[in-house]
Amino acid sequence: TIAVLDFGSQYTQVIARRIRECQVYSKIYHFATPAETLRADGVTGIILSGGPGSVFAPNAPMPDKAIFELGVPVLGICYGVQLMGRILGGKVARSKHREYGLGTLAIRKKSPLLAGLPRKLRVWNSHGDRLIALPPGFAAVARTENSEFAVVQDTKRNFYGIQFHPEVSHSEHGMDIIRNYLFGICNTPKNWTTADFIKQTVAEIRAQVGKGRVLLALSGGVDSSVCAALLHKAIGKQLTCVYVDTGLMRKNETQNIEKLYAKHFKIDLRVVDAAQLFLKRLKGVNDPERKRKIIGGAFIEVFEKKVRELKTREGIEYLGQGTIYPDVIESMAIGGNPAAMIKSHHNVGGLPERMKFKLVEPLRQLFKDEVRQVGTKLGLPKEVVWRQPFPGPGLGVRVVGDITKERLDVLREADAILQDEMMDAGLYYKIWQTFCVYLPVKSVGVIGDERNYADVIALRLVDSIDAMTADWAKIPNELLQKISNRITNEVRGVSRVVLDISSKPPATIEWE
Ligand code: XMP
Repeated sequence: TIAVLDFGSQYTQVIARRIRECQVYSKIYHFATPAETLRADGVTGIILSGGPGSVFAPNAPMPDKAIFELGVPVLGICYGVQLMGRILGGKVARSKHREYGLGTLAIRKKSPLLAGLPRKLRVWNSHGDRLIALPPGFAAVARTENSEFAVVQDTKRNFYGIQFHPEVSHSEHGMDIIRNYLFGICNTPKNWTTADFIKQTVAEIRAQVGKGRVLLALSGGVDSSVCAALLHKAIGKQLTCVYVDTGLMRKNETQNIEKLYAKHFKIDLRVVDAAQLFLKRLKGVNDPERKRKIIGGAFIEVFEKKVRELKTREGIEYLGQGTIYPDVIESMAIGGNPAAMIKSHHNVGGLPERMKFKLVEPLRQLFKDEVRQVGTKLGLPKEVVWRQPFPGPGLGVRVVGDITKERLDVLREADAILQDEMMDAGLYYKIWQTFCVYLPVKSVGVIGDERNYADVIALRLVDSIDAMTADWAKIPNELLQKISNRITNEVRGVSRVVLDISSKPPATIEWE
């Protein structure tokens, strides 16, 4: 085990995740965890994370000083190196200006931490205080423009310090530095794979819930799907999933979910058909934000009703949630993560307090790509694990203007053709989102000799990395032509297909 002592940096989880990427088990500990606990846990290395504070602050978080006597290699990062400097007899000063952003690291001395690296690297900094005098036994290894002591070491005692952040992707060779620490300095074995994560998490879930029963809201998205598969592996029949069919789903979506979870995985799946209720509530509603509120409200209402029924009738006491690490950060309101929105509708966060559920959140420490690896290992198909993001309000925000059953059906058919062609062309997984939008306008067309006054479908295909910005995706004209032909020929009532060529900003990805 590599212990990461958490001094409150937003990057602590990123450090842990980088270590997992190297197939090494890491565990995040409270910063003040006694050295004895770490020894008992058999840690082979200790990393002191960064932190938002200053070592000069009155309540600056401090580690147990005895960790430096365990005979285990210690690596301090950012705040961690300042702590180390202070505790071991060096000097830290407050800087007049923060060093923030990319800087150039110049390596001047050999170090096992920097083995195999070029002599100059671009590295990511984010700190105020800095080390100005080294503790006895330490030597400076590399410098940046602003700091003599960007990397320091005491190779005798195996203590290392880095002022910048090797764990963030902006730092060149950051992973090599972490690898050097794990394998060159700590001699940690590789023993942590996705299979190990599953094994351990299954054991943890069983220990937590015992013979209790767990309820999970299954949306069909990546996180809730992987959570369902993992819980099912752990507790089998003790898991019940509830899926609300809002009537705003894509073609065959509900059937596919039943096929996969109820038939294939044999999960106890309760499908609540609430399409009528959603349609009734949405009747005549044009405003996108009102639509979202209505859909979100109706979802909670339907779900809660079902949950109450199950709780009283079947005695379920745990609520499973597919919370992943980015959701955790975002609920702590650090950074503007787009998942905030994506989650808004499925967020049943108010539920557990009111209904006195205990939470089970087995994916809480993972990043999205790790969740995907777990899902794959658990046997979920590619179409689930790698599916494109789909908004919580579903097709409700893709039928522009009034929502009716007829319009939803037209949109569903057109959208199914688009997805089909994207899959066929091998482009579905390469593009961030591909979908159709129903426009509330009629346009004139001809069928045979007849004038035909019919619906318009817009194609929205976008490339993006995080949904914050996006550009329209360029796909071959022949493919566009085929999609358009198929939609106008096969979907009754559509005579025109248009292509949305707006980027975000100024447009958004969805039309509403
Ligand atoms: P926009 O349209 O804001 O979309 O560029 C950014 C990303 O968020 C998704 N999206 C939503 N997801 N509830 C959701 O769960 C919503 O109300 C919602 N609106 C947009 C959108 O599909 C895109 O991935």
